[in-house]
Parts: sequence; C-alpha cells; structure tokens
Amino acid sequence: MANPAFENIEACVFDAYGTLFDVNTAAAACADELGDQWLPLADMWRQKQVQYTWLRSLMKAHADFWQVTGDALDFAMDSLGISDDGLRARLMDLYLELEAYEEVAEVLSTIKASGLKTAILSNGSPRMLLAATDNSGITASLDAILSVEEIGIFKPEPAVYQMGVDRLGVAKENISFQSSNAWDAAGASNFGFQVAWVNRFGQARERLPQPPKAEIKTLRELPALLEI
Ligand code: LAC
Repeated sequence: MANPAFENIEACVFDAYGTLFDVNTAAAACADELGDQWLPLADMWRQKQVQYTWLRSLMKAHADFWQVTGDALDFAMDSLGISDDGLRARLMDLYLELEAYEEVAEVLSTIKASGLKTAILSNGSPRMLLAATDNSGITASLDAILSVEEIGIFKPEPAVYQMGVDRLGVAKENISFQSSNAWDAAGASNFGFQVAWVNRFGQARERLPQPPKAEIKTLRELPALLEI
C-alpha cells in the first residue's frame, strides 16, 4: 500500500536505538569472545532493556537508561550462563559507540539542509546519546538531542512526546516522528505526531491503537515522504 505524503512538517524527530543506531553492533563486536551466542545475547539484552523501561515507568521507579541497559545485560548474560566482568565492561563501553545505520548521516544532512528542524527524542541518557551521535559524526546535523531524563519517565508515556513539542516549539501535527520500534511508533502516533515506522526487519504490524501513518524499510525513503 502506498504511503500518504506527510503534510506541513516543520520538524523531524527520530528515535535513537534501533532507528538511528544498530543496537546489535555491541554484541557483534564481541563475537570473538561470545561465538554464536552473540545474537541470542543481543536479542535478549535489547528485549529485556525495553521491558525494564516499561516496567519501571509503570512502577514509578525510574532509573536512567544506562542503569537499565546494564541491568538488562546482567539478566541476559546470567540467562545464557555467561559470567565475565571484563566482557560485561566491554559490552557496556561498546554501547556508547553503537554504529549508525548506513543511510543515517546522509538522510539527516538532507533533511537539515531542506530547512526542517531535526532532533532525537530518546530513552537514552544525555551522555549515552551524545557519545553515539559524536561517534557517528551526526551531532552537527541535529538541532536538539532530547532525553527522557529531563522528565524521568520512559516512552511511550505521552509526556515524553510532549517534550518534543515543547522543546522544539512546533505543534505536534507538524512533527514527523520516525522509529524502528513498532511500540514507539504506536505511542508517538497515539500522541498525535505524523509517524513513519521504519520496519527494518519486516516485522508484523502491531495491534495497538493509532497505527503509524507510513511504513518504510529504511530512512532512505523519508525525504520522499516529506516531499523534500
Ligand atoms: C529510544 C529507544 C526506544 O531510543 O530505542 O528511545
């Protein structure tokens, strides 16, 4: 089905992990030590990390994303019978240097050059986000890097998406939001952004309220959607 063009967009806001940055690259870089456990570890680490964000928000027991990421890694390593403090430290360090997907730098600079505002809106802590954007050389293409740490609750709490509106000074109807995380795309769409779900892995669509306005495979399709 063809995607409808996005209308009256003034700002383009991106999720970080999974959307701009490939979260598997940390465990993949440790394949020398992990062998063929690197992918099961990466999958469980990510799933648990996201679950902990939802659970902590519901429990009103916030901790920042660095803590949650470490807790999730501990759970995943424990589950797979891996006990190695040096490897744990290496994986966490690598999480600060996740690689951006190959199209990201070019697409961000195209969007910024078109005159639209660009921003990240992420669960990541400010230090984690800046480390990742610096490492991929995209910091200069972003007008703002917004972290949930400002309000101390994780996505898909609507107040997180409202931060984008408040900090960019753009009405929600005029913001396009991009996420590879289907649940985040649903949360943002439910809030009122025009949402493109970047379905990088051909996943089935979520059965949640407010489906995304568009589904794309990579961010390369975004400029056409924005008609820039
Ligand atoms: C983020 C997570 C959801 O960057 O990927 O907010």
